[in-house]
Amino acid sequence: MKDLRTIILAAGKGTRMKSETPKVLHKISGRPLIDYVLEVAKAVGSLKICVVLGHQAEQVREHLGPAVSTVIQKKLLGTADAVKCAKEFCREYRGDVLILCGDTPLLRKESIRDLLQRHRRQKAACTFLTAVVEDSQGYGRVIRDGEKKVLAIREEGDATFDEKKIREINVGVYCFQSELLFKAVQEIGLNPTKKEFYLTDIIALFVQQGLMIETTQTDTPQEGLGVNTREGLAIVGSFMRENVLKNLMEQGVTIIDPLTTFIDHTVKIGTDTIIKPFTVIEENVKIGKKCLIGPFAHLRPETRIADGVEIGNFAEVSRSSVGEGSIMKHFSFLGDATVGKKVNIGAGVVTANFDGEKKHRTSIGDEAFIGSDSILVAP
Ligand code: UD1
Ligand code: CA
Repeated sequence: MKDLRTIILAAGKGTRMKSETPKVLHKISGRPLIDYVLEVAKAVGSLKICVVLGHQAEQVREHLGPAVSTVIQKKLLGTADAVKCAKEFCREYRGDVLILCGDTPLLRKESIRDLLQRHRRQKAACTFLTAVVEDSQGYGRVIRDGEKKVLAIREEGDATFDEKKIREINVGVYCFQSELLFKAVQEIGLNPTKKEFYLTDIIALFVQQGLMIETTQTDTPQEGLGVNTREGLAIVGSFMRENVLKNLMEQGVTIIDPLTTFIDHTVKIGTDTIIKPFTVIEENVKIGKKCLIGPFAHLRPETRIADGVEIGNFAEVSRSSVGEGSIMKHFSFLGDATVGKKVNIGAGVVTANFDGEKKHRTSIGDEAFIGSDSILVAP
């Protein structure tokens, strides 16, 4: 594998989130935004990763832990300035540098692999990812000449009326030859409109210097969507949910109504299981084959459901395992329980697992019949 280092830009203030939590620590499917980006960076072979932090850096650094390097951008002077802050990170390094943004959790490793491959094959100075979108407002537009050669990236504030009509946008993912990047980034001038140093100005600079620029285009434009607002968080979240459900359906799971089904990306479900509407399935739940889940079921973290189990409406299962062929059809709660095979859990059964201080386990053997409205007090 070729040498690769990655810089993730995440110093931005996230003002529009109106939050005390740093933007990149806002969660989708229970996971901070930055974790998705880190995962992609690792998956494409980054040997070292550096995250540029600014606003509420301490909190983010604490989350990232010691394995990821961080640098602080003292003043938020723009994306080019953020890259400059990572100069030390790439000292005496001659390989490729990948630049990502911390607020784009939908990025796909496949697109980045494509981009790296193109960059390396063409021996380009810079390769960046573009997308053709319906509404390009707010994004940097890709300016090309008559031969489709890239000339520049033009930011919204500087685009002419005609340039604003361009629908090919800069996603914000770039690969550079390290030395060329850090040399050119020094030469970028202050943008007069926004009083910031734009990394995107590097493209025109490279063109002037006769350096080769390549692009790859994603066929799933939503992967470039960044989270800037709470609305964005919900929109990106719904795309992510859609992807999770699509994958499950491809693997042979029936999801009756994807719009009202919420399944965490870590969940595993066997073939021919049917998930009925208004169901929420959280982290690390495993469900076997031929189960019927929902409507209105809530499976909480670490739950294990064996094959052929039925979990009906208003049933909550938390940190529990349910054995093959067991049935729990209405209004029940299992918490910290181990349930054997072919058990019947009647309507209204509750495991009282919490005594106010500690949680206790309930164990139910094979073929037990637990009558309606029973409270099982553990231990
Ligand atoms: C940027 C691109 C734009 C592209 C878009 C894609 C520039 C000038 N423009 O615009 O072409 O279409 O992303 O989403 O780069 N950041 C810092 N320090 C700073 C400023 C920003 O670390 O001083 C970080 C932010 O935290 C964020 C990323 O850089 O993760 C992008 O910055 P943002 O201000 O969101 O850029 P856009 O206006 O979205
Ligand atoms: Ca952004």
